[in-house]
Amino acid sequence: MRQSFPGIIFIILVGSILPACSGEGAGPADGLGREALRDDEAGQAALTKQNFQKLVEDYKTSYVARGAHAKAHSCVRAYFDVHGDIQADYRYGVFSRPGKRYKSWVRFSNGHYDLKASQDYRDDARGLAVKLMEISGQPLERSDVDTATQDFLMTNSRVFFVKNMPDYNQFVANPEDFIGFFFPGWNPFNWRLKEFLAARKTLTPPPDSLLTPTYYSITPYKLGPHNIKFGAKPCVERAAEKPVVDENTDPDYLRKQLQAELSETGACFIFQAQKQQVERGMSLDDATGEWSEEDSPFMPLATITIPRQDFSSAEQLRFCENLSYAPWHALPEHRPLGQLNRLRRHAYPASSDYRHRQNQTRIPAALAYWRAGRGSITEKKP
Ligand code: HEM
Repeated sequence: MRQSFPGIIFIILVGSILPACSGEGAGPADGLGREALRDDEAGQAALTKQNFQKLVEDYKTSYVARGAHAKAHSCVRAYFDVHGDIQADYRYGVFSRPGKRYKSWVRFSNGHYDLKASQDYRDDARGLAVKLMEISGQPLERSDVDTATQDFLMTNSRVFFVKNMPDYNQFVANPEDFIGFFFPGWNPFNWRLKEFLAARKTLTPPPDSLLTPTYYSITPYKLGPHNIKFGAKPCVERAAEKPVVDENTDPDYLRKQLQAELSETGACFIFQAQKQQVERGMSLDDATGEWSEEDSPFMPLATITIPRQDFSSAEQLRFCENLSYAPWHALPEHRPLGQLNRLRRHAYPASSDYRHRQNQTRIPAALAYWRAGRGSITEKKP
């Protein structure tokens, strides 16, 4: 039977969308209400450790940087204040005491794994990682022996471009081969079309300022008995201050812009969470799909205040480079969920341990350094 040209396009699209939508290859069951362990998890974990060590080695410059989000714009001192009126239903882990204040480090980053290719004017994901210190309780993993922290990792995208462990390992093994990853061969049934569309949402043009986007966890976490995704949105919608440098040509304009803004006014984000609605098809495993805010609105839980400050000393940038954030630096009440998060349990220490070993550095004492530099911040509410 002869097919018309539009007919062929239709078949190709349906053929490539269907496997993507069905969660094929996502393991025994795409966990909606519960997590579904894969048979091959141990092998995938071993592979990810190898892949990340190779990645950081392949892209090292004068030193070995992170295997993802290699470029830091800065680490800034911040406060994380749990809202005094937080609903009883959300009072778990670090949120269990209304009004509690945590000293925190916030690291702003570009998502690229290659420092040399990480000019600020390129399309990329932007990261916001928050590290709460002096927490009560034992985290599932610690960044070093001195400091028990609760880390929250986010980027300015709602979705991720990989669905499952084997796909992530395939991507990291050869990260330059974008076309080969999304469109492996001529058979459209093998194309990763949903992932490709998610990648287009992940790699976005740079913002005018790092203080204007909303950031998302993308993957789910526990909040006591609930399954949630979290995020951080600017307290007030704000336009970036007048650009201080040319954002089209300066590879480091985001850091310069941030320094200009933080020396003037400080900044603030609302930390918020949305609960999983299983009946709305919100998956624990498939991070290429959004949890609709219409079906499950975000609830404000805390305020992240970044006081006016100077963060640009060489010493502080070095400190930032040596810090380690990870989703599994988390209290059991905030345990990461889903297969990508389980893979991350192995990826982050593999990258962090390797770079620290190669650079002959250690993870710095985050709390002591925060306190020592208190003078660099102006403790006025923004
Ligand atoms: C899907 C949601 C994800 C988000 C929101 C996210 C976010 C981030 C952020 C913000 C950082 C920078 C951390 C820092 O400032 O030190 C980072 C680093 C990193 N990410 Fe992710 N990431 C995600 C998925 C993944 C996955 C699936 C993997 C691998 C399985 C991965 C591997 C890494 C590694 C190895 C680092 C560097 C760790 C280090 O050397 O300290 N990420 N990520």
